[in-house]
Amino acid sequence: MINLIQKNIFRTIFGFLIIFTLNLYSEDQSDADSFFGREAPIYPLQDNLIGWIDSRQILTLNGEWSYIVDPMNNGLHESSFFGGFPKNKIQKTGMELIEYNFETASKIQIPGAWNAKDEKLFFYRGPVWLYKKFNYLPKQDALTHLYIEGSNFTTKIFLNGSIVGEFEGGYVPFNFDISKYLKEGENILLVQTDNTLNESSVPTQKTDWWPWGGIVGDVYIVETPKQFIQNAYIQLNPENFSEVLFKLEMNEKSAGHKIKLEIPELQFKAEYQTNSLGLVKENIEITPQLWSPSSPKLYEVIISSNAETISDEIGFRSIKTQGQKIYLNDREIKFKGIAMHSEPIGTPGPAFSKEHFQELLSTAKDLNINFIRAAHYPYTRHLARVADRFGLMLWEEVPVYWNIDWNNSDTLNIAKNQIVRLVQRDQNRASVVVWSVANETPLSSPRMKFLHALLSEIEAHDSSRLSTAALLSGSEEQFSSLVLVLALQGAKSQWVNPKEKAIFRLILDQANIPINTELAFSLSIDDPLGESVDLISYNEYFGWYYVTFFTEQIKISEGTLRKLMFEIMPKIKIASSFNKPIHISEFGAGAKFGNHSNKIWSEEYQAKLYARQLEMLSNNPQIQGISPWVFKDFRAMLRPLPGIQDFYNRKGLIDEAGNKKMAFEVLADFYKNKWNKETTSN
Ligand code: GCU
Repeated sequence: MINLIQKNIFRTIFGFLIIFTLNLYSEDQSDADSFFGREAPIYPLQDNLIGWIDSRQILTLNGEWSYIVDPMNNGLHESSFFGGFPKNKIQKTGMELIEYNFETASKIQIPGAWNAKDEKLFFYRGPVWLYKKFNYLPKQDALTHLYIEGSNFTTKIFLNGSIVGEFEGGYVPFNFDISKYLKEGENILLVQTDNTLNESSVPTQKTDWWPWGGIVGDVYIVETPKQFIQNAYIQLNPENFSEVLFKLEMNEKSAGHKIKLEIPELQFKAEYQTNSLGLVKENIEITPQLWSPSSPKLYEVIISSNAETISDEIGFRSIKTQGQKIYLNDREIKFKGIAMHSEPIGTPGPAFSKEHFQELLSTAKDLNINFIRAAHYPYTRHLARVADRFGLMLWEEVPVYWNIDWNNSDTLNIAKNQIVRLVQRDQNRASVVVWSVANETPLSSPRMKFLHALLSEIEAHDSSRLSTAALLSGSEEQFSSLVLVLALQGAKSQWVNPKEKAIFRLILDQANIPINTELAFSLSIDDPLGESVDLISYNEYFGWYYVTFFTEQIKISEGTLRKLMFEIMPKIKIASSFNKPIHISEFGAGAKFGNHSNKIWSEEYQAKLYARQLEMLSNNPQIQGISPWVFKDFRAMLRPLPGIQDFYNRKGLIDEAGNKKMAFEVLADFYKNKWNKETTSN
């Protein structure tokens, strides 16, 4: 007996030493990771998105979780000696060597970003493990799914020690069927979230917003019948207000499922059968009262099969463009908007709850807006649900931001997944009127190919809304003419000092421009992507960034150029060769709340810039929408200026605590009294 035990111990230690030595001496040890590592196991990918989540059978896992930071990614099976955290070993005798313990680990409220909760993680980018214990009674005739509304940015899921799967890409919902991993009674869920971004992720690591890490949306255990309604689409035909397109998809491609659709308030009830692909596609005749900002009418819609009933509150409206105009329910409308980030007022970290968005949107409504650009990534589903009720139109976007690895098919798949899941989740939200596929992406043919692929996904899933991308436009040549316009203004000016006036005159002489010339700067938005989108959206920073580019070149003080820029702005012409409406998706200036002077970073400077911008934009008839940058100061790693920014982008009209800056009233007054008269508002 003793010999047998000794033999086994000897074998184990000998085995361990063999592995260790082999690792030590094997040739192809490319780096430290592979020295300790093993072959990575297969991580199954996510299932198709389960829609209509709020009317499903759910057990919420929101609440207190534990977390362990894992900078070395040592918790994964493939990179640790002892099998990794998913084993969730428990100390029994006090003699086991276990170097983690989730029971005694720090606690965090989920949803919630660990780099908002834990100051030590504020700048951290890497893996963090989240642990949740829950009791459950599996049901024979049902499937059980884990649904996560959003997790940044790479998520690996383990249940009771087994690998469930991996989801690549932040911000959008995903779900996995976990039926086979569940136990009766206590279950251990481990979720590794990693907010590392790189050149090939979406977005890349360079963003002007904070990479909030972790589970940033609701976590639910969802029960469905074995054959269940995967998702359903019901939207008004934009060309016929008495017709609605109804599409439904089962989780299985099987014919003959009886589907009942009811809209009680419209006395509508009908039955359909799925075809061999498990689909229903019908045009139904109803004449609903149309949803609009002034009357955000929603109808209860009920869909049932033999095995389940799902329901939702849905509004019906039509949004389209014709020529250079935008029409809501066939009435001309302007987008009186504001851009924002998904951060609550007065609380650090990402916004995710109904309450967060109720406060954000009700405060934003004080600006007399009817539109919000939800930049630059999908928010949780609660945003659009609140906007549906508040009568606010939404622009929703995927984080294809600045330069992206356009030729990388994995990168494209991440972006496709994001736009498809966003559309599949919010396709029935009346408030959502614009899908945006990108922001400020440099021109190239791989970029065009990439963005066209995303636009095709939108077209395939929902062609009832407007498509767009926030474009940068205007060639170097076009912008160099801005210097001439500034020089002309400066040369004629009463207040410019003689030395700078002489420089301006020199610039004009070299360009052969007589001083009595009348010259206004005009810009044409000709980004070729304009051909493929419905709305020509354009980000511009006259009065903020542009002069900074010139001051170096022409040796004129930035202060002089900024004052001259304010003088010429009202005459600036902005148009596009595409006969479509233009939406100014960004303009703005930074200001620290409470900072008063006529200098940069003061509330006065920001307010003056708004006045000049709004004058300029309302002088350009092709501009039919505006969403200034930005509603609230937000966290950004690109913004360190001590005492002013302190890692906040300060272009908000309110600061992080909700204090309104002077420019807030400038915009609110413009939307109430100026940019309202031309069109028949809804
Ligand atoms: C860009 C960009 C924003 C950024 C803003 C700024 O245009 O789209 O994400 O925050 O400018 O510089 O403040």
